[in-house]
Amino acid sequence: MKQPLTARSSTRLSGRVRVPGDKSISHRALILGALATGTTRITGLLEAEDVAATANALSALGAEVERSNGKVTVRGQGIGGLRAPSSPLDFGNSGTATRLMLGVIAGHDMQVELTGDASLRRRPMGRVLAPLAAMGLQTGAEADRATLPLVVRGTSDLLPIVYGLPVPSAQVKSAVLLAGLHAPGRTTVIEPLATRDHTERMLGFFGAELVGEERGEGARAVTVCGDAELHGASIAVPGDPSSAAFLIAAALIAPGSDIVVEGVLLNPTRSGFIETLLEMGANIETLDRRDEVGEPVGDLRVRSSALKAVRVTHERAPSMIDEYPILACLAAFAEGETAMEGLAELKVKESDRLAATEAGLAACGVAVRVAGDDLFVDGKGAVEGGARVETRMDHRVAMAFLTLGLGARAPVTVDDVTMIGTSFPGFVPVMTRLGANFASC
Ligand code: S3P
Repeated sequence: MKQPLTARSSTRLSGRVRVPGDKSISHRALILGALATGTTRITGLLEAEDVAATANALSALGAEVERSNGKVTVRGQGIGGLRAPSSPLDFGNSGTATRLMLGVIAGHDMQVELTGDASLRRRPMGRVLAPLAAMGLQTGAEADRATLPLVVRGTSDLLPIVYGLPVPSAQVKSAVLLAGLHAPGRTTVIEPLATRDHTERMLGFFGAELVGEERGEGARAVTVCGDAELHGASIAVPGDPSSAAFLIAAALIAPGSDIVVEGVLLNPTRSGFIETLLEMGANIETLDRRDEVGEPVGDLRVRSSALKAVRVTHERAPSMIDEYPILACLAAFAEGETAMEGLAELKVKESDRLAATEAGLAACGVAVRVAGDDLFVDGKGAVEGGARVETRMDHRVAMAFLTLGLGARAPVTVDDVTMIGTSFPGFVPVMTRLGANFASC
């Protein structure tokens, strides 16, 4: 059942908060733990539906995943050591879980049926099936039209490949690298623009042999050596910058705010949003920058700021791909026209985020337009609000418009907040603790 929520004008957000563990790193810690020999201990794992989908799939495939006192233990089965599940794997709303697990399944001689919710069943799977089929996965689907539900058959005789990504996608890169662990020889992925590199960093941490090479103009090649042996590791998952984005945005637009978000992942392949905000004149300070288990982390102090419009070119998109809905909402509070270019990938997220963002902003009285793959928001320094926004089964659209409502003149209602549980179940209580004014209706 849908659960609407209303956000009202709020001021003076204050306090220190932590955001939950990074979603991308959480998926990968569970998966590499299951493919390693020995035990992996994970602290700070994101406890949300998307990550539970990966944990459940790995358990169904024979890995032991246990949770106690906030710590998660994975007893790995070694590369190629998983077994066929007794029923279909349901990945809920999670594209990352589905695509990464397809890479793992590819290297096992077993047949698996995969399914998901209505949003996930609309998302393209051909982008991972194409390279995995070239390695030996039998898909029984036309790659260019493939969607869940799917039945695939893996093999213990995968072939290594050299694959140039047609779209900048960390999920596709990761699926091929995970499959490459199961193939003899070297598997290489070439990406036109660098995407998040958590799989590579964590593979190195678990003892895999990996070579990275810059290819100029932002392009990069990553090679993994197959038939690897991974060793169980201890992983501390840093705070998710994509969840922190909503708290940061709220503090920027609610007058008189001063907050600190602790332990946020500052990996450069994820920091496009913060870089863009600094260009817009946001008052954000990084405190206590440190390294945690191979990833840079810091505390962010954010104070209300007068923002100015900015042009965000397509090269930056991979490093902030999940932050465009909230950036577009912030752009409405800035002075001038913000241009966000090269957003084709937004159309194939949990919803068509380009359309959902445009419709939500227009409903709130913001001058917004989409031209091709570009989004333009004409900021007037203030937002009228007073609208009901459709979230289209998309957690980030729901959180973006609830955040916008905190700075708007009239209350903003989102039609359904249930999907927020896929990435940030504590969003409403954490925001409320900072002083955000939310009311169910
Ligand atoms: C993710 C990669 C991105 C991102 C998603 C998480 C990952 O997707 O949107 O939320 O963990 O690899 P794409 O690879 O499709 O860009």
